[in-house]
Amino acid sequence: MYFRKSIIAITGLFLCLFLIVHLSANSILVLPQEVARGLYNSYSTTLRESPFIKIVAYILYLSIVLHVIYALVVTVNNRKAKRKGYAVNRFRENSSWTSQNMGLLGITVLLFIVVHLANFWARIKLGLGEGVGLDSEGHVDVYKVTYSLFQNSYYVLFYSLLMIPLGLHLYHGLKSAFMTLGFYHKKGLRILAKVSLIYAGIMALGFGIIPIIVFFK
Ligand code: HEM
Repeated sequence: MYFRKSIIAITGLFLCLFLIVHLSANSILVLPQEVARGLYNSYSTTLRESPFIKIVAYILYLSIVLHVIYALVVTVNNRKAKRKGYAVNRFRENSSWTSQNMGLLGITVLLFIVVHLANFWARIKLGLGEGVGLDSEGHVDVYKVTYSLFQNSYYVLFYSLLMIPLGLHLYHGLKSAFMTLGFYHKKGLRILAKVSLIYAGIMALGFGIIPIIVFFK
């Protein structure tokens, strides 16, 4: 059980790091169009062509897969144990709504990621669906793909609203990951809870506001 929870914690922390980089890159989208387009397209071309980033991308995909599989296994096992009457919720902190529903929140985030990858990754990286053009510099026009998607109010709602479950999942997930890996210092746990709240808040608000700003640009 500890091995499975450690895998969830390590892959989860790696995904948290990815989100910081991803949000920083996506904040280019809120700049005026003349600046944002060139910057976003050249940045994303540089990333796609870098051999180092290609390796990191494979580690990222593997992390998502392992995180989902092990989280499902642990959730199912916890449910079974609960049905048999074993005490799985020993800590007061563990009985919050968020911690009780990490599986549900995780599945909602997974649904978001599947739609998101179909919107961008499948088109840009796999060349599936509607073709993607080039900008005046000859870079793949990722900015246009993003801009067009966020002209659709349903997608704006989808992307913005689903940042609420993402935020809740990240808040509890970040705290739990450090605890699983042995972080139990009493004063440190209070700081960890605050840091997790700030991190999750920045991620949810940051990713949630970008589609709205792009929509009204
Ligand atoms: C405003 C919100 C977001 C925007 C505009 C956005 C934009 C993009 C774009 C354009 C790509 C393709 C990059 C490329 O191949 O050049 C991408 C990939 C990706 N995004 Fe997002 N993203 C957003 C939020 C998120 C969130 C919240 C998550 C996770 C919960 C996420 C996870 C991913 C993943 C896993 C990839 C694949 C990365 C890769 O292949 O290297 N994104 N995103």
